Amino acid sequence: MLNADISKRRDDAISRGVGMLTQIYVDRAENSEVWDVEGTRYIDFAAGIAVVNTGHRHKKVVAAVEAQLKKFTHTCHQILPYENYIGLAERLNAAVSGGTENKTFFVTTGAEVVENVIKIARIATGRPAVIAFGGGFHGRTFMGMSLTGKVAPYKQGFGAMMPDVYHVPFPIDLHDVTTEDAMAALNKSFKADLDPGRVAATIFEPVQGEGGFYAAPAELMREIRALCDTHGIVMIADEVQTGFARTGNLFAMDAYDVSADLTTMAKGLAGGFPLAAVTGKVELMDAAHPGGLGGTYGGLRRPMLFWT
Ligand SMILES: Cc1ncc(COP(=O)(O)O)c(C=O)c1O
Repeated sequence: MLNADISKRRDDAISRGVGMLTQIYVDRAENSEVWDVEGTRYIDFAAGIAVVNTGHRHKKVVAAVEAQLKKFTHTCHQILPYENYIGLAERLNAAVSGGTENKTFFVTTGAEVVENVIKIARIATGRPAVIAFGGGFHGRTFMGMSLTGKVAPYKQGFGAMMPDVYHVPFPIDLHDVTTEDAMAALNKSFKADLDPGRVAATIFEPVQGEGGFYAAPAELMREIRALCDTHGIVMIADEVQTGFARTGNLFAMDAYDVSADLTTMAKGLAGGFPLAAVTGKVELMDAAHPGGLGGTYGGLRRPMLFWT
């Protein structure tokens, strides 16, 4: 098989909206290497967009999948629950700052977890508005897309975004935007447009990924924490991309001297399988009524956490 032949079939069969960066059709992968259908070997720096943090086919991940496949594939935790959903939640509760004061809930993808973290913040505070940052990326569903701080290619042509989402510039030295500029913009907005008493949450990536790999300055994290404490706003760290040691620490927030109230995770959490989680403060995580959160596939049969 040739890459060019498959590529032609792909053009005829698959929606143009799914953008593609390469025409290297993968045949197999091992640790950091991939081989395409023509037998060419590559070093994989993309890692499934920051997913296979321990490399392709890590032996513990493969063993966990094999073991689970021999038992059952799917029962839906909301119908017939299983113990390892709870076991993984306990580990995440302990791993995210806050420890025993945390609870967790699982869904399937990064965008889905972003949707849900906003639901949690809204029901816990009884407020509608959300503050996000320019250049940030939070997924392609309607709330994820609305929170994303980039029009092209994510929002362009897709109609009305979710209401009550406000963007603030993200401090980046290279762009001459300081933490002071970001906070001044936010405070201006609090005077002109947005009553802080209507704000449920502020969401940010501790290191912007899609936005260009920019780490949030420590002062920004402190200022956001203080602002959230002053106005009763929920501080959300979107660690979908930065989580699971991509920045050296288990979570990027571990490098800062303040913590978020809620943390979203996906990607590296399950080493290549669709699993996502929100972990955070009990009083927020318990705000929703039973049945208000969930989904058919949330909490994959055996969560294949790479650090087990
Ligand atoms: C910070 C962040 N949030 C959310 C998402 C959306 O995740 P998914 O593509 O699994 O929906 C991504 C994906 O790149 C991300 O980097």
